[in-house]
Amino acid sequence: MAEVIAGCAIAVVAILLCSFLYAAWVAPAATRRRLRRFEGPRPSFPLGNLAEIAASSSWYHHSNNNNKNTRADAGEIISGGDIHGRVFPYFARWRSAFGKVFVYWLGTEPFLYVADPEFLKSITAGALGKSWGKPDVFRRDRMLMFGRGLMLKEWSDEVASGEKVIDVERGVVRNAAEIIAQATFGLTDDARVFQKLQAMQAMLFQSNRLVGVPMARLLHLRKSYEAWKLGREIDALLLHIIQSRQQRMQLQGNKNKRNNNDLLSLLLAAAGNDHEDDSNNKSKKKLTTRELVDECKTFFFGGHETTALALSWTLLMLAAHPEWQTALREEIQEVLEDGLNAASLGRLTKMGWVMNEVLRLYPPSPNVQRQALRHIDDQQIPAGTNMWVDVVAMHHDPDLWGDDVNDFRPERFAKDPVHGGCRHRMGFLPFGFGGRICVGRNLTAMEYRVVLSMLLPRFHLSVAPQYRHAPRIMLSLRPSNGIQLQLTPIN
Ligand code: HEM
Repeated sequence: MAEVIAGCAIAVVAILLCSFLYAAWVAPAATRRRLRRFEGPRPSFPLGNLAEIAASSSWYHHSNNNNKNTRADAGEIISGGDIHGRVFPYFARWRSAFGKVFVYWLGTEPFLYVADPEFLKSITAGALGKSWGKPDVFRRDRMLMFGRGLMLKEWSDEVASGEKVIDVERGVVRNAAEIIAQATFGLTDDARVFQKLQAMQAMLFQSNRLVGVPMARLLHLRKSYEAWKLGREIDALLLHIIQSRQQRMQLQGNKNKRNNNDLLSLLLAAAGNDHEDDSNNKSKKKLTTRELVDECKTFFFGGHETTALALSWTLLMLAAHPEWQTALREEIQEVLEDGLNAASLGRLTKMGWVMNEVLRLYPPSPNVQRQALRHIDDQQIPAGTNMWVDVVAMHHDPDLWGDDVNDFRPERFAKDPVHGGCRHRMGFLPFGFGGRICVGRNLTAMEYRVVLSMLLPRFHLSVAPQYRHAPRIMLSLRPSNGIQLQLTPIN
């Protein structure tokens, strides 16, 4: 009997070992052979190229921290500098060695790096397919929920009490969080979901450093457990919000159904909870409660930080380029004479150029990712290959934009409002591309215009002496130490 048990145990261990070896070694080696037409840095087992990535990133942050007390180099802010080399030093190095398309490895997972829009175009048809489409509700244009304007009030109070330097990033992030909470759930005072989502984002970033390495989760057991626990708490909070809304909608019946103008009501209607709507469209895909929670989380994650970063970088650029502050103030005065509404906001043309130029220089989403769902014949890319599109590299590529690529020149969008004169239609991708392009881009454009229209007529902005220019990647492209600006009230 003991022999049988020992035999079984050995068989189980052997099977586990074989599966591990297959997943960690045999399969990646086969993928590597299939991707051999692409060059790239030599991976090691089991880290792939992670060691090099970690070494060059920590060198960059170390040198940043050693410069803690250095005054921001105004020239660098104005010219933009080599942002790609700063935030993705390893990609910049590999790009000079292997060109704009190559393969690198995160653990045993291969990634096809792409910073060549022509190549991207050639494989787009294969990379776009997505079995799970987006609910229609995300595509509808929504009028902005304006928030309560707390940020402006706070800044006015602080400036009035003699405080001249404000960390605008902090205020802008809070304000954007408030707007998205209101637009999503009609919430105005429940900060818990946000705090937890932010904590989870920081934790995921820390525990994701060994992504792709077999069994790496075992090295971060505590962090993985904490992230899982936080995830459960967030789900529970969202579930509570959703269920309360469902109950309220049922109690209200048909009478006040349209009173809630937020995304959750639209999602619930799309999910088939609104029976009247559903009877008109029986073929509509119903969302389960689990899917509803997931959609809400995606909306939160995608919606608040990106917009806040676009606004924060804009305030910095405007502080460094006072001539554009003046131009926007004049435009606001001229266009918004008849009041602030969706139509008048749409006429803020120069503000649109400024937004696009900021999204070009400092794209809050620094990369777009895809996975090939099937074998892409033309380029011999096997199904399952991950693709990493380096948006920062394309937005800073002199071959696509010319020698003034690093300069802040919103006027490049005057003649070509969509592509800013980029030499390739797929070289400017702040919101991604194709069927998965950002669903919130119209909402962002509205929020951006409202915030600037309220802010610029009230304050003159200049860069504070303590600001240190250190963009970095923490999932998004963000300032390392906030953005300190001097605010002077305009009478
Ligand atoms: C400056 C602001 C924003 C930027 C730069 C941005 C950027 C992006 C990018 C690059 C993607 C991936 C697209 C792709 O894979 O091709 C994305 C997806 C998404 N964004 Fe945004 N976004 C912004 C604002 C927003 C807002 C305000 C919302 C919601 C209110 C939002 C919701 C989403 C959602 C739900 C997705 C996922 C779509 C999917 O997976 O199919 N985004 N965004």
